[in-house]
Amino acid sequence: MKFFQNIAHLNKRFWVSLNPEQLPEEDLDWVRFQLSENEFAYWERLPLADQSHSFQVAKQTQSLIGGQEKSFIAAALLHDIGKLESGFGTFGRVFATVFCFFYPPTRMEKWQERDKGLRRRLVDYSNHPSIGAKLLNDLDSQQETIAWVLEHHSEKENWVTPKEIGEALSSADND
Ligand SMILES: [Fe+2]
Ligand SMILES: [Fe+2]
Repeated sequence: MKFFQNIAHLNKRFWVSLNPEQLPEEDLDWVRFQLSENEFAYWERLPLADQSHSFQVAKQTQSLIGGQEKSFIAAALLHDIGKLESGFGTFGRVFATVFCFFYPPTRMEKWQERDKGLRRRLVDYSNHPSIGAKLLNDLDSQQETIAWVLEHHSEKENWVTPKEIGEALSSADND
């Protein structure tokens, strides 16, 4: 079920990402306001399609939980920041998502030692939550932000993030 949700989500994003547009200046200012200077510097390196996706997720989250919880709005903006490491573009990402779903993670583990190549990038893609969390930890992001980045693909039962906030973040992401 989760797989089909992912595919539907990805399919919608795929068409949008073929023709990405820079967010308008006022939206960029809003993003800058939600993030620390370091976080914004990384967010700006995301491909345009990801910038606009994360902006939508953050706005939707804000409308669900209100604006006072800035650390969770930052979590919405930065949820996939770990994908920067894998460097996949639009087509690579579709391939990586399908691949990571069908290929047993235990068999991917032995690719951890590789330092470059497609297999290294696939490992990084499938590890993007922990890579993102580590990056944000180095940037001194807030604990709530780091926690959600780490667990945004985990089962609800294992969330550290309060359930109603995690549910808002996750429904905004799959919208
Ligand atoms: Fe993700
Ligand atoms: Fe997303």
